[in-house]
Amino acid sequence: MQTPGLRVHDERTGKEYNLPVQDDCIRAMDLRQIKVNPDDFGMMAYDPAFTNTASCRSAITVIDGERGILRYRGYPIEQLAGKASFLEVAYLLLHGELPTETELRTWVSQVTHHTMVHENIKKFMDGFHHDAHPMGMLISTVAALSTFYPDAKNIRDPEARKLQILRLVGKMPTLAAYAYRHSVGLPYVYPDNNLDYAGNFLRMLWKMGDNSYAPDPILARALDILFVLHADHEQNCSTNVMRAVGSSNADPYVATAGAAAALYGPLHGGANEAVLVMLDEIGSVDRVPEYIKRVKDGKFRLMGFGHRVYKNYDPRARIIKKTAEEVFEVTGRNPKLDIALELERVALEDDYFVQRKLYPNVDFYSGIIYQAMGFTPDIFTVLFAIPRTVGWLAQWQEMLDDPDQKIARPRQIYTGAAKRDFIPMAQRKPAA
Ligand code: CMC
Repeated sequence: MQTPGLRVHDERTGKEYNLPVQDDCIRAMDLRQIKVNPDDFGMMAYDPAFTNTASCRSAITVIDGERGILRYRGYPIEQLAGKASFLEVAYLLLHGELPTETELRTWVSQVTHHTMVHENIKKFMDGFHHDAHPMGMLISTVAALSTFYPDAKNIRDPEARKLQILRLVGKMPTLAAYAYRHSVGLPYVYPDNNLDYAGNFLRMLWKMGDNSYAPDPILARALDILFVLHADHEQNCSTNVMRAVGSSNADPYVATAGAAAALYGPLHGGANEAVLVMLDEIGSVDRVPEYIKRVKDGKFRLMGFGHRVYKNYDPRARIIKKTAEEVFEVTGRNPKLDIALELERVALEDDYFVQRKLYPNVDFYSGIIYQAMGFTPDIFTVLFAIPRTVGWLAQWQEMLDDPDQKIARPRQIYTGAAKRDFIPMAQRKPAA
C-alpha cells in the first residue's frame, strides 16, 4: 500500500502527482517533476527568508513558538538555566548528552587552556580606530584566527575539528574582552585559568592596575545564566549563515565571523543594543503611550519585541526578567526597567500587538541587566556572540556530518531583462 502523501493536481496540464510526505514536509526536489512540457525546468518553491522551509534536520534545539517552549537536546531551558553552568550546557549542545563529572572536568580544563590568544592579535587589535565598534573588531579578529590555525581547514579530521571548537569556545571571551578594552583605551588583560568562564571574562573586562579584582559571584552567575539562554536557537539568521558558509567547507573561524556579522544586525542580536537606545529615547514612563502610538503608525518597530518563531512570550525573556532582580540586589535597580515594564504592559494590552502576537523577546530585558552590570550598549551584541558561538559550532558540526547536506545554493526566479544585444557607448541613452 502506498504511504499517504500529498496529492497535487496541476490545473495547467490536468496531471496528478503524489508527493511523499515525511515529518509533515514534502521534499522541494519532488516538485521538480511537475512540468508543463518536457523542456520545462520544473516547479520550485518560492520562499524568500525561508519562512516555511526546513533547510536541515537537526537534533540540537527545538522551539515551540506557539507555546513559548525552548529545549536544548530535549532539556527545557528553564531547567538548564537554573541547574547547569554554561560550559556544561555547551558540552550538551556540542556532544548531545550532559557530561558526567569527569567529562565536565576534562572539558572545562580543555576550554580553559585554550583561552589565550596569539600575541599578534593584540597588534592586530591596536590597528582599529579608537572608537571602533567592538562587534566589528570581534568579527574581524575571529576571521583572523583562521590565519593563525591553518589546520582548521581539515574539517573532516575529527581531532582537528575538536581542537578548533575548543579554541573558538575558549578564545571568544578573550577576543571580546580585548575588543572592549581597546575601545575604552585600557591595556589588555590575560585570561586567568583559576576562574570560571564568566568570572574570567568579567576579570578580563574590568581588572584595573592591581590584582585585587575579583568577580562578584552573583554577577558572574547571572552572566553565566545569560550565556546559557543565548547558546543556541535553532535555524536563526546567524546560524543559517554559519551553516551556509560552512557548507562550502570553509574553516570554522571564517564561518563564525560570517555568523557573527549576521548577528550584528539590529533585527537579530543587535536588537539588545537598539532596545537601550530606544529606552533612552523614550526617557520616562509617561512618554510610553506616545511612543507606542508612533510604533503603531509604522514609524519604527518596538525593538526587543516580536519573533519569527515565538508567537507567545519568549521563555528566555521570562528568565532574564527574574535574573534581573538578583542582579539589581548587587548593582542597584536600573531605572530603565520601569520604562521597559510599562512598554510591555501597554503593548500586551494593545490590539496591534495582541493581533500580531508580538511579545518581548530575549533582547528586551537583557540590555537592562547588562547595563546595570556596567556594560555599555555597544558591547551587548558581543555578549550575545560569545555563547552563541557554541550553538553555531554545534550546528556546523551537525551539518558536516549530515549526508543530506551539500553546498548551500538557493534558486531564484529571474526577473531581469530577456537576452538583448550589447549597445555601443555612443548609442546609449540615460536610464529613465
Ligand atoms: N514592532 C512593531 N511591529 C512589529 C514588530 C515590532 N517589533 N515586529 C513585527 N511587527 C509587525 C510587522 O510590522 C508586521 O505587521 P503587518 O502584518 O501589519 O505588516 C507583523 O508584525 C509581522 O512582522 P514581520 O516583519 O513579518 O515578522 P518577521 O517574522 O519577519 O520579523 C522580527 C521578526 C524579530 C525581525 C521582528 O519582529 C522585528 O523586527 N522585531 C524587532 C527587532 C528585534 O527585537 N529583534 C530580535 C529578535 S529575537 C533575538 C534574535 O533573533 O537575535
